[in-house]
Amino acid sequence: MGIEKLRIKLGHIELKTPIIMASGTFGYGLEKINFIDYKKIGAITTKTITYYPWEGNPQPRIYETYSGMINSIGLQNPGVFYFIKNILPKIRKKFNKIFVSISGRTENEFIQLIKIMNKEKIDALELNLSCPNFEKEQKMISQSSDLTYKIVKKIKNETSIPLIAKLSPNVTNIKEIAIAAEEAGIDMISVINTVKGLCVDLKKMKIIDGGLSGGCIKPIGLKCVYDIYKVVKIPIIGIGGIIKGTDAIEYFLVGASAIGIGSGLFTNSQIIDEVIKSLINFLNKTKSKNLKEITGLLNEKKGKNR
Ligand SMILES: Cc1cc2nc3c(=O)[nH]c(=O)nc-3n(C[C@H](O)[C@H](O)[C@H](O)COP(=O)(O)O)c2cc1C
Repeated sequence: MGIEKLRIKLGHIELKTPIIMASGTFGYGLEKINFIDYKKIGAITTKTITYYPWEGNPQPRIYETYSGMINSIGLQNPGVFYFIKNILPKIRKKFNKIFVSISGRTENEFIQLIKIMNKEKIDALELNLSCPNFEKEQKMISQSSDLTYKIVKKIKNETSIPLIAKLSPNVTNIKEIAIAAEEAGIDMISVINTVKGLCVDLKKMKIIDGGLSGGCIKPIGLKCVYDIYKVVKIPIIGIGGIIKGTDAIEYFLVGASAIGIGSGLFTNSQIIDEVIKSLINFLNKTKSKNLKEITGLLNEKKGKNR
């Protein structure tokens, strides 16, 4: 049995494989990387785009730590107008399915972005609700269920493009946030964004205060997917610490309908092939017809068809 078993549907979006490149870790997918077979990628999520160009944070921006890394790149991007004119057409040539990640510092900025993106042919918009610079409070939208509900509802009223809410694990109760997003009409949830962390560079006597990613955060990602699966009906894209093939299986078993690959690609050039192989082997071994059959298999809330 081959790769055709890995076809999935996220709402109305059909993907050839469940592998989604996580926002910011694959740029805009335009670098020519010889060791990647692009046909095996289900969709790309772009680096988060904002209305105005952003320079990102000062150096140092990346630091390696045990089984992972801290990044404090920020939302460095050329702004939506440059993106649409110069980058999106190139992404279209290379990828079947395109998810564009967006973020705003204010509600108005989000709405402006949506109005612009409404004119473009893309497959989904991922709302990066995990950016810590929202409005006067300078907080993450996804750290408040009220704010999450309000923003998602407003955006949903402005667009018919399928919407994904990308949530932060840095909350007391992720279930509340996921429920708020679903009630406001979100189509999918992706978890997790990076985990707040800090590294000390003793040589340079500097700190890198940012987001932790990589193998060390997998248990946090799995727990978030596991918890959210119990309380929502919409599909979940499981992200965080997938650094080898079998990690992806674990995400499906606790409730994911697709998976995101991020820092895994920095340390394992074979990660995409490994995930494909592991998932096919697992489906064959368990005599499962497709990935839907194994979604949530190890979650008490079983048998849900998403
Ligand atoms: C260098 C880097 C840049 C990132 N940029 C973004 C971004 O622009 N928007 C976003 O939603 N997530 C961003 N992320 C978070 C990833 O998409 C992903 O959620 C996180 O790294 C956890 O997955 P991983 O452990 O597989 O890397 C970034 C992560 C890294 C490492």
